Amino acid sequence: MKFFIDTANLDQIREANDLGILDGVTTNPSLMAKEGIKGQESILKHYVDICNIVEGDVSAEVIATDFEGIVREGEALAALHPQIVVKVPMIKDGIKAIKYFSNKGIKTNCTLVFSPGQAILAAKAGATYVSPFLGRLDDISTDSITLIHQIVNIYSIHGFKTQVLAASIRHAMHIVACAEAGADVVTCPLEPILSLLKHPLTDIGLEKFLADAKKFM
Ligand code: G3P
Repeated sequence: MKFFIDTANLDQIREANDLGILDGVTTNPSLMAKEGIKGQESILKHYVDICNIVEGDVSAEVIATDFEGIVREGEALAALHPQIVVKVPMIKDGIKAIKYFSNKGIKTNCTLVFSPGQAILAAKAGATYVSPFLGRLDDISTDSITLIHQIVNIYSIHGFKTQVLAASIRHAMHIVACAEAGADVVTCPLEPILSLLKHPLTDIGLEKFLADAKKFM
């Protein structure tokens, strides 16, 4: 399972990358706004900066919601850097654009996916990645992990090549559950990744080992 970091914060991207376990980055307009990135030129430069930190795929989201606009924006984003994946919302013109990009060999990430039916459409259109959102489903008391199982199962039965990129990951248990469900990728902020390190028995055990080691020094 690949690990992507879901942020536009360059320091956090560097920190995750330094761990040696980072496979890519996902961003969205909200995450770019959070970093105060404004204006077309700054936004495009920021995507290139991210690509220069990591080796894997970097999702950059289009703002347009009509086919022509999505294609125009997506082609400009894809031309920025070979690592760019064009992130397109799960809407009618988005699906049409994903098919267009797929025919042109441009990688895509179909975002804002909340149902197996949407995931089937994304795969049929040839999306490179499909992004089901876990946390936002949990927020409305809907079992998000079942969705990951369903999509992984459907893709496996029908041999779809689209990779399941579990998004809106909020905590370590989401990551573990996605791994069990067979997600190809999880994308989440730095904190859930770092929290995988944590176990109180590790801390207690290490403290004791270090205390005992001092006895021989
Ligand atoms: O990748 C999508 C993600 O950024 C959404 O996360 O926590 O805003 O639901 P969240």
